[in-house]
Amino acid sequence: MIATQQDRSLASRIIEKFKSSYGNDPLVVRSPGRVNLLGEHTDYNNGFVLPAAINKAIYMAVSRREDTVISIISLDLDQPYTGDTRQVVSSPLHWPDYILGVVQQLQALGHPVGGFNCVFGGDIPLGAGMSSSAALECATAFSLNELFGLKLDPLTMVKLAQKAENQFVGVQCGIMDQFASMFGRRNHVIRLDCQSLAYEYVPFNTEGIRIVLLDTNVKHSLASSEYNMRRQQCEAGVRLIQAHHPEVKSLRDATPAMLEEYVAPANALVYQRCRYIVEENLRLLAASDDLQQGDIAAFGRRMFATHEGLSKLYEVSCPELDFLVEHVKGNPAVIGARMMGGGFGGCTINLVKEEAIDELVAKATPAYARAMNKELKVYIGQIENGTSLL
Ligand code: GLA
Repeated sequence: MIATQQDRSLASRIIEKFKSSYGNDPLVVRSPGRVNLLGEHTDYNNGFVLPAAINKAIYMAVSRREDTVISIISLDLDQPYTGDTRQVVSSPLHWPDYILGVVQQLQALGHPVGGFNCVFGGDIPLGAGMSSSAALECATAFSLNELFGLKLDPLTMVKLAQKAENQFVGVQCGIMDQFASMFGRRNHVIRLDCQSLAYEYVPFNTEGIRIVLLDTNVKHSLASSEYNMRRQQCEAGVRLIQAHHPEVKSLRDATPAMLEEYVAPANALVYQRCRYIVEENLRLLAASDDLQQGDIAAFGRRMFATHEGLSKLYEVSCPELDFLVEHVKGNPAVIGARMMGGGFGGCTINLVKEEAIDELVAKATPAYARAMNKELKVYIGQIENGTSLL
C-alpha cells in the first residue's frame, strides 16, 4: 500500500529505472523500517519487544530471468551487482549481501530460486537504527516468494531473513526487526514474545501524541562487534545460573534473585548486562499494562528508565544519544524518550505532544549543534503496515 506522495514518487522512480534497465514490467514490494517503543536487546534473550513498522520503507522491483543470473541495481548507488544463483557468495560491494543472504537461505531450505532482475531503493536513513537492513531482507524474501511461487508463510520469511543476517552478513541479531517489518500493522504496536513468537497487536493511536525520532547522525560503526559481545555476555550469565538451575534456558527464565546469587559474585560486568535485560523484560510487561489502561504518562516514564539501563548498565549508548535524552527530560511535552535499536548512534525515540514538536525541534537543533558539533535530523514516525505487494 502506498502511503504518501513521497512514497509514490520513490516507487515510480524505481519502476522507471527497472523498465529502462531491463525493458519489462516488474512486481513491486514495499517493506518498511521499524521503531521500537520498549524492549531493547531483549529479543535475542528470548524476551519481549514492542516494535512497529513505520512510514519509511524499501521498495523493490523484480522480475524473473530465463538464466541463472542475479542482476541488482541500487537506485542510489552507481555500481550494479551481477552474480549467479549457482554460486551465491558475499560481494565486496557489501550491500548486495542482504539480498544474497536471503537467496542462500531459500536455497538451503530447498526452494528453487532462478535468475532475477532487481532494482531497489528507499527512504529509511542508513545507520539510524530503523533497520533498513531488515527491511531489505524482508523485501527480498517477499519478492522472491511471489516471483517464484514459493508459498512461504510470513513467519518462515521472517526467520530466514533473520538467518540471512546472522549467517551471511555476520550480525547475530534477534528476530525483532524482521518481524516488525513483515508483520507491522497501521496504528498498532506489536507485542512480541520472542520465545514463543506469540504476538498481539496493541492499538497505538494515542490522541495528540506523535513519535519523534531525533537522529544523532552518528553511524553505529561499533554496533556489530559490541552487539555480538553483548550477546556473549548474556549467554555467559545464563551459564552461571544454569550450573544451579538447569531449567533456565535464557535470561527470560532468570529472576533478579538468581542474578544476585550466581552472577554478581562471579562476574560484575556480566551481572550488569544481565540485570538490565531482566529488568527490561519486567518493565515491558508493566508498560504493556500501562498501554492497555491508557496510562501513557507511566509508559513514558518507563522509556526514560530503559534509557538509563541501556546507558549505564548495558553500555550501548553514546554521548550524543545521552545528550538528546537529557535535553528533553523535564520538558512537559515529552512523555518519554530513550535511545532506540542496537545503539552506539542512530536515533532517540520520543513521544511528544503534537503541538510542541516545532518548539522542541527549534530548541534541540542548536543545542545539539553547540554541544556535539553535529547536525540533528528529525523524523516524525507514523505507524504503517508491514511488507506487502504494491
Ligand atoms: C538491532 C537488532 C535487533 C535487536 C535490536 C536491539 O536492531 O537487529 O534484533 O536486538 O538491535 O533491541
